[in-house]
Amino acid sequence: MQGTQQLLKVFVTRRIPQEGMRVLNQSGLCKVSLWDSDEPIPRTDLLQGVSGAHGILCLLSDRIDAEVINAAGPNLKVISTLSVGFDHLAVGEIKKRGVRVGYTPDVLTDATAELTVALLLATARRIPEGVEEVKNGGWSSWKPLWLCGYGLSGSTVGVIGLGRIGLAIARRLKPFGVKRLLYSGRTSKPQAMGTSLDRLVSESDFVVVSCSLTPETQGLCDKALFSKMKKTAVFVNTSRGAVVNQEDLHEALSSGRIAAAGLDVTTPEPLPTDHPLLKLKNCVILPHIGSATYSTRGIMAELCANNLLAGLTGSAMPSELAL
Ligand code: NDP
Ligand code: DGY
Repeated sequence: MQGTQQLLKVFVTRRIPQEGMRVLNQSGLCKVSLWDSDEPIPRTDLLQGVSGAHGILCLLSDRIDAEVINAAGPNLKVISTLSVGFDHLAVGEIKKRGVRVGYTPDVLTDATAELTVALLLATARRIPEGVEEVKNGGWSSWKPLWLCGYGLSGSTVGVIGLGRIGLAIARRLKPFGVKRLLYSGRTSKPQAMGTSLDRLVSESDFVVVSCSLTPETQGLCDKALFSKMKKTAVFVNTSRGAVVNQEDLHEALSSGRIAAAGLDVTTPEPLPTDHPLLKLKNCVILPHIGSATYSTRGIMAELCANNLLAGLTGSAMPSELAL
C-alpha cells in the first residue's frame, strides 16, 4: 500500500457495479473520486471532477473531447470506458496527447445479441401491442386476423455490420429456421454471404443493424435505404441511434413503407416522451439495455477497472483500444 501522497487520482463519472469499484479500491494504487449518482454528470461537474486526474472511468453518455482532456491536464494517462462503443470519445485528440484507452469488447456480446433477438421477436410478433390489448380490454376473442406478425422460419436475415455482436446475433437466429443470412460490412467474413447494402436491404425480411457508429455509418439507414426494403421488412437497430435517420424511419413506418422497427438505441437518449416514434404501434423502443444483465454489467465494470489500472501503471491492458 502506497502512502496517500503517491496515490493516483481517478475520476469515475457515475455509480458503477461494485465489482468495478472493488478492483479500484483494493488496488492500493489510486484515490477514487466518484460522481455518486445514477444520473449523468453535468458537464461543468465533469470538467471540474477530472481536473488533475491520472485516469478517467467514463460511460458512453459522457462526451470525452479536447475540452475534457484539457480540463484533466497533463497527469492524464488513461481513459477507460464502460462500453464497447467508443463513438463518444474524441479518439484523434486522445491519441495526440498520448493517452491510452480501455474498453469492454466481448464480455457483453452474448447479452447484447440475446437482447437483439428478444427485440426482433417482440417487434415482429407484436408482443408489446398484445400485452397492451390484454390490459386495455382490446382482447375480445381469439380472432384469426388479429395481431398477426412475421416469423423467422424460412426468412432471409440481413445483418449490417457482422462484427462480434452481429455474428452472435446471426448464430442465435439461425436455429429459428432462417433460410438465408446476408451481411454487409467492410471486410469479408467466412461465416456469411457478403453482399452490397442495396441487395441486403432489398432481399431481407429482417434487417438488423449491429455496426459501430463512424462517420461512414452515421445516418446510413435513411429514406433511400428504407425505400429499397420489402414492405413486410422488420428493421432492428441495437448499435447506435445515429446510424438511423429517425425522421426517415418515422416516415417509412407511418406510411407502411416497412412493417415495423425495434430500436434499443435512439437519438437523443433518452428519447423525449412526446417523440413521434413513440406514437407508432409498429415501433418498439427500449432504453438502451442491450448489455443489461446483472452478470454482464458486473464483468464489464471489473474489466473497465482493470483496464484503468493497467493504464495507470503502464502495463498491458486486458482490452485496449488500438488508437
Ligand atoms: P465490432 O467492432 O466487433 O463490430 C462492428 C462492426 O461494424 C464490424 O463488423 C464492422 O465491419 C462494422 N462496420 C464498421 N463500419 C461499417 C460500415 N461502414 N458498414 C457496415 N459495417 C460497418 O463491435 P461489436 O460487435 O462488439 O459492437 C458493435 C456496436 O454495437 C458497438 O460499436 C456499439 O455501438 C453497439 N453496442 C450496443 C449495445 C447496446 O446496448 N445496444 C451493447 C454493445 C454494443 P468490419 O468487420 O467489416 O470491419
Ligand atoms: C456499449 O457497450 O457500447 C453499449 O452500448 C452499452 O453496453
